[in-house]
Amino acid sequence: MATPNKEIVLSGIRATGNLHLGNYFGALRKFVAVQDDYDCNFFIADLHALTTNPDPNQLHANVKSILAEYLAAGLDPEKSTIFVQSDVPEISEMYLLLNMHVGIGELMRTASFKDKARKALGIGTPADDSDEAFEKEIIGASTNKRVNAGLLTYPTLMAVDILIQKANKVPVGKDQLQHLELTRRFARRFNSFYGVDLFPEPTDFDFGGAPVKVPGLDGSGKMGKSEGNCIYLIDDPKVLRKKVMRAMTDEGPKEPNSPMTEPIANLFTLLELTSTPEIVTSFREAYADCSIRYGDLKKQLAEDILNITTPIRERVNDILADDAYLSQVVKRGAEKARERASQTLAEMRQIMGIRKF
Ligand code: TYM
Repeated sequence: MATPNKEIVLSGIRATGNLHLGNYFGALRKFVAVQDDYDCNFFIADLHALTTNPDPNQLHANVKSILAEYLAAGLDPEKSTIFVQSDVPEISEMYLLLNMHVGIGELMRTASFKDKARKALGIGTPADDSDEAFEKEIIGASTNKRVNAGLLTYPTLMAVDILIQKANKVPVGKDQLQHLELTRRFARRFNSFYGVDLFPEPTDFDFGGAPVKVPGLDGSGKMGKSEGNCIYLIDDPKVLRKKVMRAMTDEGPKEPNSPMTEPIANLFTLLELTSTPEIVTSFREAYADCSIRYGDLKKQLAEDILNITTPIRERVNDILADDAYLSQVVKRGAEKARERASQTLAEMRQIMGIRKF
């Protein structure tokens, strides 16, 4: 189990469905890799998933499936504290307290909020993407198409997850860096407002280089559930091969050393994440001298992805069927997570002046 004098690593994934390659390379792979060397804490963010008002039965099923996928991918409850966010009620109370030091303006300017709020209202990104225009869109929205306040305060809740455990390092994908920056700002603000040194400022954690953005194979943008372009860790080999073979390509390079179009660059990004450097180089050379056959590249990519996902997929069903084991893992995880959370919350209450008679 966690050793107190090691640096604290913490991260989580929202309970919104099965894990995809974006979650794997942006987050889960790193969780597994650092387990031996840090005080590791990994959770399933079910409260964050509530921002989209999911079906209640589906929410619990999603929590369970992510837990099973964590374990199948190699997270070890003997090494890491593995818990469900809502099993730590201290998080909800601290969320209320921290919100008192968070500005609605800074929350509204967050890129992920703009994106999700527009999706909730069913509008695309308009020509005028200024903060002022966005504020008007939100305030002017009709009441039956509301953007809920939980979506706005999503970064507060994420900051609380991190700060309540006094985490130093947070392994996440590139899309979460802005939230992490806000977390640091909130930590600094709280410390300086009360003249205390309660919260460390957490940093992102990418031992293997810069944080990644895993692209989708549909031409542009990232792989994500709301983009509907995911390759899931539990995809059956047939389904997975089909998804990869359908990836968007172009007509092929016409001249040596042509620049790559985005869909091709995306295929190479995935190949770099999944394949050996030799294979990547050979396809790059084939692209440069115009001899590349995209069909071969896709076949190779599908097999390399399967090499990673197959062991996970093969373990996940057995784990999912073992309710007693799953519940034992999260009970123990919640106990551990609550130890530090309740300590931090008590300190925070004291600092803010909430004291007992
Ligand atoms: P979620 O569920 O949206 O994403 C979970 C993790 O997967 C990464 N990710 C990606 N990385 C690279 N390329 C992609 N296409 C891709 N898609 C997803 C995300 O960057 C993330 O690391 N807000 C968090 C959940 C959370 C959290 C926290 C994380 C809640 N509290 C505290 C760290 C610390 C999120 O984005 O979940």
